[in-house]
Amino acid sequence: MPLRRREFFQRSAVAAAVLGLPLAQAEKLFAQEAPPLPPRGLFATDPDRYWALLRRQWLLAADRINLNCGSVGCTPLPVLRAMIDHILSAEEFREAALPWFGYEENARIREVHEALAAFLHCKQDELAIVRNATEANNVVCNGLDLKSGDEALLTDQEHPGGRCCWEQKAARYGVKLNYVALPKPPASTARIVELFERALTPKTKIIVFSHITTVTGVVLPAKQICTMARAKGVLTHVDGAHAIGQIPLDLHDIGCDFYGTSPHKWLMAPKGTGTLFVREEHLEKLWVNIASGSWRDFSLKAYRFSNFGTSNLSVMVGLKAAIEFFQAIGPERIYARMHQLATQVRDRVTAHPQLRVVNASADPANHEFFSALLSFEPAQPAPSAASNAMKKVAEECAARNIRLAGGAERIRIATGLFLQPTELGAFFELLDAGLRS
Ligand SMILES: Cc1ncc(COP(=O)(O)O)c(C=O)c1O
Repeated sequence: MPLRRREFFQRSAVAAAVLGLPLAQAEKLFAQEAPPLPPRGLFATDPDRYWALLRRQWLLAADRINLNCGSVGCTPLPVLRAMIDHILSAEEFREAALPWFGYEENARIREVHEALAAFLHCKQDELAIVRNATEANNVVCNGLDLKSGDEALLTDQEHPGGRCCWEQKAARYGVKLNYVALPKPPASTARIVELFERALTPKTKIIVFSHITTVTGVVLPAKQICTMARAKGVLTHVDGAHAIGQIPLDLHDIGCDFYGTSPHKWLMAPKGTGTLFVREEHLEKLWVNIASGSWRDFSLKAYRFSNFGTSNLSVMVGLKAAIEFFQAIGPERIYARMHQLATQVRDRVTAHPQLRVVNASADPANHEFFSALLSFEPAQPAPSAASNAMKKVAEECAARNIRLAGGAERIRIATGLFLQPTELGAFFELLDAGLRS
């Protein structure tokens, strides 16, 4: 049923407050029906137009180019609307009792939980809803009983949100940390697994690695690493902050013990959403990080780790809308589009001998190590003509409101779903010009 005028304006006012938009702009965007998704059939007949029309789903300003939707994603309008409508309905006291998250599972959160478990291919009982990957990583690290002298194996490309809990554990309990240096660029899956295997010692209790690293965006062979670790009796915790929404995920198929995600990146959910998978056999072994009424209610299964006190249910309602948005477009179509744009970046960068792609195989037919993130470095380290050129490219991009991750030493490009070829073209022009000069 269409919203009444008063409701439209209420929604605009909340949008302005929550999203920090001027009221006039919020009214323009939210005091009307949402723009429809492009017709599905259009994709077959005119894919360029399909993607151009899809862009209307985001708030992104026309004078900004976002090539860093990896650090934090861009949430489309239907997801923002779902979140804002929930804020309004909860504040108007129209929701069922306990319209928040962080205590027992209510009907709203159960729907999110069901949708997430189906999306990630795991059982609901094995999935906790948390607020980000950092929290998921901390639950695992702080919740495991390890003693002084036990060892954990990490990579040299972990994000602080996955690494620092282990550094604290080392400082506090004497757990020893070892690191695998990931090759740049990756050679082969077998070589990567071999590097992990060789770094194991009889004291290694757990391997902790990012499915897609923040540093370069390399996609690690998670299933093969987990299979190897399991055969050796070593636990695995995969930091999938970047993976959910960027690559298809089947957590049972991966065979890990623990897996954390940040859906506010590539799944485009509202900020402050996370998931934690805990393999069934570990559910009762893991201590909670934040203890509240249900800390030892094992009947809650993984949901025990979602009991951390009053938290924002509206963002979780938005998370469910994000899954629906993603499904409506189609996960395969999304993956193919984002990867195709990243492949263009790889090919353009590869054409410059002064540069070196660091997260894709040297063989152009091999696509297994990158998805929608592509990183490159100067072929010669600083000081060099190539590093000066990279610095110039980064500076020119900043001056023209093209946002990317990194700088003179390494640039990381993220090819999000909303990205248009003309925007990528603007970056390519600056890249070519910087390297020519
Ligand atoms: C691999 C990895 N882990 C953890 C994080 C932290 O994510 P969040 O801030 O959502 O907890 C990031 C953020 O970029 C990341 O790339």
